[in-house]
Amino acid sequence: MSKPITELPYVLSHDTESKQTYRTVINQTVDAILDSLQDGGAYQGSSVEELKDLIQKEQMLPEKGLGWETVLAQVKTSILPNFLRTWSTNYMAHLHSPALLESIAAELILSTFNQSMDSWDQSPIATEVEIEVIRQLCALYNLGETSDGVFTSGGSQSNLSALTLARDWYCTTTLGHDVKKYGLPAEYRKLRIYTSEVSHFSMEKSAHLLGLGYDAVRKVPVDAACRMDTKALSAMLAEDKKAGLLPFCVVATIGTTDYGSVDPVKEMRDICDAEHLFLHADAAYGSAVQLSSTYSSRLGDLGLCDSITVDFHKMFLLPISCGAILIKDSELFSVFTLHADYLNREEDEEDGYTNLVGKSLQTTRRFDALKVWMAFQCRGKDGYEEIVNTCIGNAAYFAAQVAKSPDYELAIEPELSSVVFRLKGSCEVNKQVRRQLLHHHQVVIGQTVYAGKTFLKFTLLNPLVTHEHLDELITLIKHLGSQLQ
Ligand SMILES: Cc1ncc(COP(=O)(O)O)c(C=O)c1O
Repeated sequence: MSKPITELPYVLSHDTESKQTYRTVINQTVDAILDSLQDGGAYQGSSVEELKDLIQKEQMLPEKGLGWETVLAQVKTSILPNFLRTWSTNYMAHLHSPALLESIAAELILSTFNQSMDSWDQSPIATEVEIEVIRQLCALYNLGETSDGVFTSGGSQSNLSALTLARDWYCTTTLGHDVKKYGLPAEYRKLRIYTSEVSHFSMEKSAHLLGLGYDAVRKVPVDAACRMDTKALSAMLAEDKKAGLLPFCVVATIGTTDYGSVDPVKEMRDICDAEHLFLHADAAYGSAVQLSSTYSSRLGDLGLCDSITVDFHKMFLLPISCGAILIKDSELFSVFTLHADYLNREEDEEDGYTNLVGKSLQTTRRFDALKVWMAFQCRGKDGYEEIVNTCIGNAAYFAAQVAKSPDYELAIEPELSSVVFRLKGSCEVNKQVRRQLLHHHQVVIGQTVYAGKTFLKFTLLNPLVTHEHLDELITLIKHLGSQLQ
């Protein structure tokens, strides 16, 4: 038993007492986390009202600090028991994964040292690690010699970065207009982005933030497998050009949020080459599949794209937040480069000090690359291959069971690790089944709409899920559905 902490030092330092307190605080936190894990459920079931009541009765900023022991005790009673457990085999609602153990250790290291990635003098070794991780990622996705990248907070920021680069590239190369200096060109209302009708909403959000508006995003129809219909893309491009509009970018979704469907990159590249368009791959979901020799061909050749969104806090199983934007032509990052006397002086850069702020939307930024560095080294290609293959294999198994059951309907055959399905019968029954699973069975699953009807969704990112467990869930859902019919 460690003795109570009477006074918490401000920070960790080389001083012996602060080191001891650091150890106690971390150890007590670890014990509290472990003590809170009493069963395998994904959520212990409290309602929205119960959680609001619980939290609102605590004072957020007391007049006098409560001290570590009291705060930890409160966290133990109010917060920890009510967490959603992403590692539970009953959690499969979203593209939201459990975190690999070594990456949790990486989080502790990076928070303890609190490096900021904007300038070399704030993160010397961290800058060099990020540069090397990015170099190797660019090689992994075959982006070629001139490629580069930077870590981001996740898929939305990567997509916003890519669309910014695409807009500025097009305005410079086609309209002879420098957006960075002069703002949007006079023709800005005509600029258009093409993405599938089941792509992620960060496309619209980015278009808004880029000053183009939602209407700039043209939604291309998909085929029966929820992949972009490239004939429809060509037709829309021709029609829009005829109407005087200015297409500048096509987005291939490599793993759509709901279905895991993958757009055909090669056909899209050919179209983009013919029309002088930027091709971005939103591989937030699918990017980890590149590490599977069994399934990587399902992604197509991502090296054909001008930029790629990679998310490590999805199928790579790293803690939030952790993403990257990789680009084929490193010169395009100049869009984000500005020099500040206090931060990233040009003379330092000439002498070999890299200031990563020049490639990022952010200034202060986390050392998330450490999580990739440690997890990739710990697991290796074989370890990641096993994770990815297990998840995709589980989805194929589950979809096959659903497809052959008379009680269920399957939306589409899964390409990656998401399965969209429903109990035959009313949408209301499907909705109620999901709620009952959440509040009464410690099972958290997804829900979406397909072909105008409510469907349920399993997003299988946890390699601990077994076929037997999937069978049990099929039986449980059927049972709940029959009680509600
Ligand atoms: C295809 C796709 N792109 C982008 C995103 C956004 O990623 P993030 O949540 O990391 O911002 C998601 C999120 O689920 C996604 O599924």
